[in-house]
Amino acid sequence: MTDLVIVRDEGPIRTLRMNRPDKKNALTLAMYEAMSAALESAGSSPALRCVVIAGAPGAFCAGNDLADFLAMVENAEGLAAPILRFLHALARAEKPLVAAVSGLAVGIGTTMLLHCDHVVAGSDARFSTPFVQLGLVPEAGSSLIGPRRFGHARAFALLAMGRPLDAAAAHAAGIVNTVVAPAEVDAEAMKAAREIAALPAQALAASRALLRGTPDEIVARIDEEAAEFKRRLASPEARAAFEAFFKRKK
Ligand code: COA
Repeated sequence: MTDLVIVRDEGPIRTLRMNRPDKKNALTLAMYEAMSAALESAGSSPALRCVVIAGAPGAFCAGNDLADFLAMVENAEGLAAPILRFLHALARAEKPLVAAVSGLAVGIGTTMLLHCDHVVAGSDARFSTPFVQLGLVPEAGSSLIGPRRFGHARAFALLAMGRPLDAAAAHAAGIVNTVVAPAEVDAEAMKAAREIAALPAQALAASRALLRGTPDEIVARIDEEAAEFKRRLASPEARAAFEAFFKRKK
């Protein structure tokens, strides 16, 4: 079977590439596990100085696999442990995170970017978080980071109203650093990663820790969101939304 997440180290840079293009890189539990393990081991590897998170052309990530959400509904579960592990690994990531976003970034595909230190997007990028449309609530600490990053009104439009942002709007909101042609996204992200990896490691680590603040507050919010998410997953609103997605083309 093809690896659904390809982890590659080139010198001081680790790349995690989501590789499920036939499903627009919707994340399965196994993919969350692979990404968490790669983030965690990067943290404890002195040779690695930066991690790049990348997707497929036209599909950075379509969010959580909705079939997995439906299974969580049927088993009366909350957010499965591999998802929470990934969210915690993002918040506690010890190495700078760079994202290379081409095409769609839905749900966690957008909220994971709020944990990244540098985001490169293609002009084809489209960011959306239809949590409420799905009967859910924002996750990944986005209910805390979003309003801080771009103010309540823009956070509400994105995270509660589910209004998408194109690349230019995401740049204006401060989610994205640089917008480039879609074919240049990976190269531009690698360029930023190399720039970061070449900085004095200890000064960078200390500066990054000051800029990000303690992860404990964000981890606490991730857990608070997860408790509400569990209640929402059990709701008729959520079940109806997931079932409607899988019936939509039939
Ligand atoms: N979970 C499971 N499967 C997904 C998926 C998801 N989040 N997103 C896409 N897929 C699957 C589709 O079911 C389809 O599979 P099929 O070919 O077996 O039917 C395949 O990926 C391609 O998706 P498709 O909908 O045909 O592509 P599109 O370009 O028309 O639309 C999206 C892409 C992402 C806009 C659309 O698939 C979508 O809305 N997905 C759901 C996104 C979402 O709500 N994520 C959760 C956020 S919390």
